[in-house]
Amino acid sequence: MKFHVMTLFPEMIENGLGTSILGKAAQKGVISYEAVNIRDYTLDKHGKVDDYPYGGGAGMLIQAQPVYDAYQAITGDLTQKPRTIYLTPQGRQFDQKMATELAKEKELVFVCGHYEGIDERVLEEIVTDYVSIGDYVLTGGELPVMVMIDAIARLIPGVLHNDVSAETETFHNDLLEYPQYSRPEVWNGKKVPEVLLSGNTKKVNEWRLEQSIQKTKERRPDLYAKYQQKQEIIKRLAKKKRQNIHMMELLHRGLGEVVYDKGMDILLKFENLYMIHAVDVLSAGKMFMQIPKDAMIITTQAFVRDMLENVYDKTGFCKCTQALCTRKEALPMKYKDIRVLDGSYFDYVMEHYNLANPENIKERLNASAMYGAFDGDRIIGFVGVHNEGSMGMLFVEEDYRHKGVGASLESYLINLQISNGFTPYCHIIEGNEESLALQEKLGLYLSDTPLWWVWK
Ligand code: ADE
Repeated sequence: MKFHVMTLFPEMIENGLGTSILGKAAQKGVISYEAVNIRDYTLDKHGKVDDYPYGGGAGMLIQAQPVYDAYQAITGDLTQKPRTIYLTPQGRQFDQKMATELAKEKELVFVCGHYEGIDERVLEEIVTDYVSIGDYVLTGGELPVMVMIDAIARLIPGVLHNDVSAETETFHNDLLEYPQYSRPEVWNGKKVPEVLLSGNTKKVNEWRLEQSIQKTKERRPDLYAKYQQKQEIIKRLAKKKRQNIHMMELLHRGLGEVVYDKGMDILLKFENLYMIHAVDVLSAGKMFMQIPKDAMIITTQAFVRDMLENVYDKTGFCKCTQALCTRKEALPMKYKDIRVLDGSYFDYVMEHYNLANPENIKERLNASAMYGAFDGDRIIGFVGVHNEGSMGMLFVEEDYRHKGVGASLESYLINLQISNGFTPYCHIIEGNEESLALQEKLGLYLSDTPLWWVWK
């Protein structure tokens, strides 16, 4: 990812970003940034970049020409027009979701305003997003840019040392962080909570969740209300757990947003994927209006599936069996040498997993969501967690099949998820008898209603 910052104070950006974690990431080449001095592009003999506003009023305005020329110098060689963000208190408020979205870009351009702002005509020409970091007015866009770059950069693989997948980590998106403690055990007469010294992961996780809930309730009632709504939906869906586990886990893992929620009429969204549960044709039709045309849809209801085909002209249908694991204890594993995979295994995965979509595999490897089985230094198979939470992408080398490698890979993933309080589940594509047999062998329960992935 490359960050381009257009500013009148380039040294402020360089000093701010050059140190600490971001500076190290730039040295490693994981991210890069440049601070472009707008003043370098002025055609004015005296280096002036500002002038009085037409119609009168207080202060000075940055003129269009130097801003436009600086922008052209940055983007001239790029094949695609990059997202260009103008920092202004009048913009859309920056949040974690926007950070996640922007972290997917290859290039980002930021424009820092000063004085009373920038000539509107050049903003209209180059800006794609108007963003504020909060409801207060600062003297310029430099501090907001640094805040944004910090939040975006830490999501880019390699900037932080994250070797545990976000999907397998215990995290509750709608809750605040639990309190943490380090040595000494007693400080200033205050003792570290006993449970954290117990070594019992399950108890520790339960305590942390409870602390997170309490803290969120006190400090962020708005977030807590969202969390509570999701918990209530999970409870309703749990009446048919085998059928609805995909929706329950999406919410439980903090991945989904609630688009519609009325009794058993529930529509969830995760990126371009929608999961729907409808009471009848009427309510299904109502919820469809909220789903974009190019979205992917999951349903476990035959009447919804038929509506999608006959009324909404969908043509892509993948029929699956849903399987879930209700165990609380770890499964035994015959093959123990299983490790998290990184981007260097991209070619291997692409070669051996015939449903692989390159962008998706890259993203999964970067998210540390794929795991490989090894024989010495040699990789002999892999498995992964799809971005919406289901397990899949299982492959084992010919020579190692029927030797328990596949079962060990899946067991590894199951154990990882159980230890973090998740319910492991997967979708087995119709006709894959081998996979069905594996799920039954591992003790997973199969849903008696099919599940369809629907697209086009
Ligand atoms: N420029 C001045 N104040 C700002 C704010 N709150 N957010 C973004 N840019 C700004």
